[in-house]
Amino acid sequence: MNLADCYNTQQFRRLAKSRLPGPIFHYIDGAADDEVTYRRNTEAYECCDLVPNVLAGVEEVDLSTTVMGIPIDLPLFLSPTALQRLFHHEGERAVGRAAEAFNTLFGISSLATVGIEEIAATIRTPKIFQLYYHKDKALTWSMIDRCLDAGFDALALTVDTIVGGNRERDLWTGFTSPPKLTPSSLLSFATHPSWTLNYLLRDPFQLSNLKDHVAEGSNISISVSDYFSTMLDQSMDWDAAAEVRRRWGKAFCLKGIMSVEDAQRAVDIGADAIMVSNHGGRQLDGSRAPFDQLAEIVDAVGHQIDVICDGGIQRGTHVLKALSVGAKACSGGRWYLYALAAAGEQGVKQALTNLQAELLRDMKLMGARSLADLGRHNLRYR
Ligand code: LAC
Repeated sequence: MNLADCYNTQQFRRLAKSRLPGPIFHYIDGAADDEVTYRRNTEAYECCDLVPNVLAGVEEVDLSTTVMGIPIDLPLFLSPTALQRLFHHEGERAVGRAAEAFNTLFGISSLATVGIEEIAATIRTPKIFQLYYHKDKALTWSMIDRCLDAGFDALALTVDTIVGGNRERDLWTGFTSPPKLTPSSLLSFATHPSWTLNYLLRDPFQLSNLKDHVAEGSNISISVSDYFSTMLDQSMDWDAAAEVRRRWGKAFCLKGIMSVEDAQRAVDIGADAIMVSNHGGRQLDGSRAPFDQLAEIVDAVGHQIDVICDGGIQRGTHVLKALSVGAKACSGGRWYLYALAAAGEQGVKQALTNLQAELLRDMKLMGARSLADLGRHNLRYR
């Protein structure tokens, strides 16, 4: 199988699986406990069907939207995700260049493997920084200041990782950042020599935004779940979120809101957007899927704040369903991480090409010329 055979997310997933050592693949692919929520995140889109209109004169279709006041050409963006240089040696550089080619929003994590300043200097598409609220406040505030100095467009405060989720695949494989050789992982690294040589010979792996403050993750191997549980501040509350919002001052979003009550409080602290998200099912297994929860959140706050549906997206029609319910845009991580692992920048560009083509085709088949034509009138629940 190669890149030309990748027409959809599942095919990128298969290619990624063949390219990556097991512990790395399962870190991307895995989720919490029994992974019920992870599966539901995608299955949720099947609880309703699209009802098309025809004869709408659809030779020109406009997929552009605005999120937090930022215009983008696609209603789908690349959620910030951690550790990308483990998946492909170019990591965030490759993902940023692919997002730039499609003029859509691209996020990097506090746990990114390329620094804030380099991304800001080299990538010309709107950028969002995912802030993890660390116990070490000097670190937390320094990341905000660096993003302000570098001219990032938006900040997403992660609110769903107050402790690490129970990622049992990572326990089985012994996955840590940086990766450790264990008797069980050795074979997997040895049988993926191209990944292993890139890891050993390219610029050293590090968590660029954290390394001057903490050794964990760059020099001390730690699982992501333990990192969350030991390094992040469990006293974070609404006052803390409001303080982050004030210090940042620019487009601000809370990532990981699932309830109407919290969506309303996000409005109260002056957030510009919320990402309805359960962190890809990697935190609280048994929590509801973003798409299942979308309508009640849109009904409560959709007139005051941008609602982003984050999670489970694998198809253009998933995006169209979420937009029909009232989301301003959709976002996701795995769909482009599989493509990154499969073929670097070309892989992510191919995934974006596929999804853009699906969106254009599906809009035409729906009889919709712009995203404003979509609404609940074109959805029926089973
Ligand atoms: C995760 C974080 C780092 O592994 O986003 O879920």
